[in-house]
Amino acid sequence: MKILTKKDIIASYNAIKHKDHKSMYVYHIDLLDQRLQHLKNEFPKSVLHAVAIKTNNLPEVLSYIVSQGCGLEAASFEEVKLAVNAGCDPSKIVFDGPAKTREELEYCNANFQGIKINANSFNELEKLLGLKNLNIGIRINPMLRIDSPDIFMVSGKGSKFGIPITSKERIVSNIFASPSINGLHVHPGSEISSLEQHVSCIKIVYDFAIQINKEIPNKIKWIDIGGGIKPEQDFDGNQKKLTHFIALLKKYCPLIFDDFECITEYGRFVHTHCAYAVSKVEDILEYHEPHIAIIHLGADLFLREVYSSSPPSHQYFNITSTDRQLQRYDLGGPLCFSGDFLAKNEELLKLQIGDVIAITACGSNSISMWSEHCSRKKPIIKYAR
Ligand SMILES: Cc1ncc(COP(=O)(O)O)c(C=O)c1O
Repeated sequence: MKILTKKDIIASYNAIKHKDHKSMYVYHIDLLDQRLQHLKNEFPKSVLHAVAIKTNNLPEVLSYIVSQGCGLEAASFEEVKLAVNAGCDPSKIVFDGPAKTREELEYCNANFQGIKINANSFNELEKLLGLKNLNIGIRINPMLRIDSPDIFMVSGKGSKFGIPITSKERIVSNIFASPSINGLHVHPGSEISSLEQHVSCIKIVYDFAIQINKEIPNKIKWIDIGGGIKPEQDFDGNQKKLTHFIALLKKYCPLIFDDFECITEYGRFVHTHCAYAVSKVEDILEYHEPHIAIIHLGADLFLREVYSSSPPSHQYFNITSTDRQLQRYDLGGPLCFSGDFLAKNEELLKLQIGDVIAITACGSNSISMWSEHCSRKKPIIKYAR
């Protein structure tokens, strides 16, 4: 199995004994394994894949990633602790995020020797002064516009991430003043459509690293190229995309894999298609067309889809019935505000109260973003292997 089709989801759901649920979240570790192997096979073996914890923070998932020799990218001190609890060696943890406190950095220096920390600003570099047990990278804002959805674009003016490349001289003097600074980091955004633009951002940081190393040989030892690749619906599409991306990297940054330790921080590319969710249909409101099906998952599990302007695409299936007529529905979540709709005018096999609806592609930025609005409990979490 390469991607979860309706047939796969029905088989997976039927294999799970626990049927007494309002909603359930099922993560396929077998698919995670496939995606990690895919990254490891396509990139040179020396590359460290530090998978983004924010995208999926389930402890079993993190432990599996670590068991496969990969690292973890933490966007907060709390995520650093999740990584440590998952058994990740500090040298494979990358601590990002724009709001690290002095106390957190000092704690890492005292307890997690060798951890990589990407400084987000000049003020953060000042907090890191004198902390000798860390590998410090500087996050660079390449200041190039890229074609990722606006809310996921973090390159350019107005971004809160990274030091603009336009401040090169000040960055260089900081690098030369601190023996612990030995890396550079770039993550221009998520769901980036153009691989060429994506690689142009990485090239800016790569050229900068080469320039620094001309003055002090081997000063920049690692380049962290972040995440950002948009997963395709089908596995073969992903395969082609990654092959093309790596070919572009080799063309424009020819020494990136030879002269530097290269680190990736993929989130969506790894997790999106590894999980699905199911919900019982609790009510069907038939006052108007289309009818509204009320289910147990809405803006609590799918915050970005409901609140943001650029939703990731899910598919919805009625998995109770296979032979009813098609009918259009609005899919309403359980929360008490009028915007809590997962989908509008969605064509499904005719629903009855008590039917089970499956939602595909739930691996990324869903369970890790759970919202307690209306104080509802998380869905039951299950793993498939
Ligand atoms: C610094 C950093 N690295 C990696 C990621 C993961 O990005 P993606 O899910 O697009 O691969 C993010 C996402 O926000 C990020 O901010």
